Amino acid sequence: MAVRLATLPPSGTLAVGDKVRALRAEGRSVFNLSGGAPDPGPPVGLAGTAITANENSLGDPWGELFLRKAFSARLARCHGVVRSEREMVATIGAKQGVYFAAMALLEPGDEVIVIDPCWVTYAPSIELAGGRAVPVALAQPGNRLDTAAIAAAITPRTRAVLINTPHNPTGRVFTEGELAALADLVKQRGLWLICDESFDLFVFDGGRHLSPGTFDVIRDRTILLYSFSKAFALPSYRIGMLVAPEEICRLIANCTQQLISSVSLASQKVACAALDKEAEWAPMLRRAYQEKRDACLAILRQDARFEAPAPQGTFYLFPGITRFGMSSDAMTAHLLDKAGVAVTSGAVFGRSGEGHIRVNLVGPLPAILDGARALLRALPK
Ligand SMILES: Cc1ncc(COP(=O)(O)O)c(C=O)c1O
Repeated sequence: MAVRLATLPPSGTLAVGDKVRALRAEGRSVFNLSGGAPDPGPPVGLAGTAITANENSLGDPWGELFLRKAFSARLARCHGVVRSEREMVATIGAKQGVYFAAMALLEPGDEVIVIDPCWVTYAPSIELAGGRAVPVALAQPGNRLDTAAIAAAITPRTRAVLINTPHNPTGRVFTEGELAALADLVKQRGLWLICDESFDLFVFDGGRHLSPGTFDVIRDRTILLYSFSKAFALPSYRIGMLVAPEEICRLIANCTQQLISSVSLASQKVACAALDKEAEWAPMLRRAYQEKRDACLAILRQDARFEAPAPQGTFYLFPGITRFGMSSDAMTAHLLDKAGVAVTSGAVFGRSGEGHIRVNLVGPLPAILDGARALLRALPK
């Protein structure tokens, strides 16, 4: 067995889903605050977007032109990011985008600075591509991007900085000042900036998502990752977009051709139909998730031991639990055993995630509220 895969950790977030399925199979009722099918569901009817018999062939490894054109227009319209259809490649979700970006940039032993805490997929993808993930903690209070700490972590092997805004798991939406300072550093030190914008539509309280794709100084050193899983509620279609300089896209399209052939046409058609609805969809999505955030927070805040600031974006709550005197793993196990409430331990997101639990608001509001009330009842006295 190759060490490469034998040492690949399972996804810390999806592992909770496995436990939920196992408990339900035993007949236990579980409040799943760790994941699930999105509510509201996608902005498009899914049946009408199936492929026809004469479309049943392999497609363009870059992604179909109709989708890339529509996405190029969307990036300019929504984020002010100007990129042509030659500067993007369709991917099987942002997950494939992370791995292929690492494959395109890294020589064996190269380092990528990642934010601590961060999404569980980054480090394993970087490592599978032969690199090394170097976590740098967010600055406290307020989970701020710490450019000075990132600068201090740069070594001769550093090739890229990988960030994510709106940020899973903290819910931070990084400001123009934070992102501009990072862009300057990346430029000065000749690095790449990879930014995962999978939650670009989930920004609350009238706030705005800013894409580092708007910074022209690092235009030739920026890779942006998007996902239709969150923004358009299409997780099972496995569709995303990687946006990068054309020469990087050419490498990635070539790699796609060798490893994947092409992304499912049915998924690309659904994605394109979803983009058509974005103008009405995005404000409705933000309202629905802000309502879920506020209603769930109001329940959690009934126990003053939670440190539960309102996240600015994403569909997660990431309350601090240190006043309960338990580790994140212990609290997560306690909630599942005692009350059948599944949340994700903050520890899976890195050292700085310890002392938190992550509550996922993707499901329907009534189920979330039932879960939050059960969680409150199960807290240690
Ligand atoms: C930050 C972040 N990026 C991307 C994804 C998933 O993207 P996809 O489903 O497009 O692979 C997730 C899923 O949780 C995520 O948290």
